[in-house]
Amino acid sequence: MYRFELMEAANNPMASAMKYQKLLSPTKAGVCELKHRVVMSALTRLRNDLISESPTDLVKLYYSQRATDGGLIISEGTAPSAGGRGYVRAPGVWTDAHIEGWKKVTEAVHAKGGYIFCQLMHAGRISHSNLLPGNQLPVAPSAIKPAGDIHITGGKKVQYEEPRALKTDEVPIIVQEFVTAARRALDGGFDGVEIHAGNGYLPQQFLAKETNLRTDQYGGSVENRARFVLEVTDAIAGAIGPDRLGIKFQQGVTFSGLVEPEDDSLAQLAYLGPELEKRKLAYVCLSSLNYEPYYQYLGLKEPNFKTDVWRYFRNVYKGYLMINGGLTPEKGDEYVADGTADAVIFGVPFIANANLPELLAAGYSSEQLNQGGWQAKVWYGNALGGPDEQGYTDWPLVKP
Ligand SMILES: Cc1cc2nc3c(=O)[nH]c(=O)nc-3n(C[C@H](O)[C@H](O)[C@H](O)COP(=O)(O)O)c2cc1C
Repeated sequence: MYRFELMEAANNPMASAMKYQKLLSPTKAGVCELKHRVVMSALTRLRNDLISESPTDLVKLYYSQRATDGGLIISEGTAPSAGGRGYVRAPGVWTDAHIEGWKKVTEAVHAKGGYIFCQLMHAGRISHSNLLPGNQLPVAPSAIKPAGDIHITGGKKVQYEEPRALKTDEVPIIVQEFVTAARRALDGGFDGVEIHAGNGYLPQQFLAKETNLRTDQYGGSVENRARFVLEVTDAIAGAIGPDRLGIKFQQGVTFSGLVEPEDDSLAQLAYLGPELEKRKLAYVCLSSLNYEPYYQYLGLKEPNFKTDVWRYFRNVYKGYLMINGGLTPEKGDEYVADGTADAVIFGVPFIANANLPELLAAGYSSEQLNQGGWQAKVWYGNALGGPDEQGYTDWPLVKP
């Protein structure tokens, strides 16, 4: 549908005049031979089928609109198992219906020459017994109730519950659920998977000391709290290959009562950087939520981190690094140019600019892009089903 002729642009004598030279240059991230470095972030949009929670034709259209030749999309947060579910109409990968639904999406992305990774998002305590099989309580590293409310079946809002702390011998079972999910995601046609270790979900519940009071090998020191994440990483990499695996961390998170202190967060990155570098993953995504629109959206007056986490992390990790968080294309280009990042991941800008890479190839500045993605009222679909096209697939397509 979109003519995205980046390689032609690169061979063009006018290419030196290109505004985003670094962002639009080719690169290789694991198995992905990318023709540009404008990656689409994981965005939960809650438009999947109400009953089967599998991607529909509308979801396929949404991803296909955002796919480009040689571009990479990270899927919306996808529950690896029934026990990892956290949202009504978010997808999973544990039923055959999920896989059939995802096949439609991945085929559409591949038809345009794009790549797509499945983001595995285990909600942990950010769930509710109403959403879980047998009405069991959500699981977490420790029995600490999140602050705030959650939408349950039927769209009702209720308080979070106190989760059940996982026993030590249950942790490997969850690790195995991630492995099964990664294999199934590949069956569904995904090129790889991303572990969601941010936004206060299960892996970050292990990482953060506020949510992890364990006294076994999964709690206490920075190394112990990182153990779960590294075990999941190793197990998935062993099953599908490290070149099909990415992992996302988020810094400056304040989500459902989880507020990470900066010093602890940096200590984690200092430990995880070299550990992950050894593992030669397709990429590490480091997302920072410390920029203006986001921290204001989270209700904060100022960012809670002072450090440029991207440059900090680059010093401790020399592997493939994708950065994310409030980045304009201009800023992203600078971070790639100075060697901090290998690629840049955009979330909100992709909501209202389906052909973002094409617009950037035509030299659009951040001010010229459609800012409609910040209308939070269109972020999530109707929990009861309904007309979900609005703010999802109906943005006017600007042909540069
Ligand atoms: C509507 C919406 C849904 C999101 N869903 C997810 C998600 O499922 N998984 C995830 O890792 N991040 C999610 N995020 C965070 C984005 O992926 C991204 O990290 C964040 O928006 C910062 O990047 P940006 O400023 O380029 O949007 C979501 C953000 C928004 C606005």
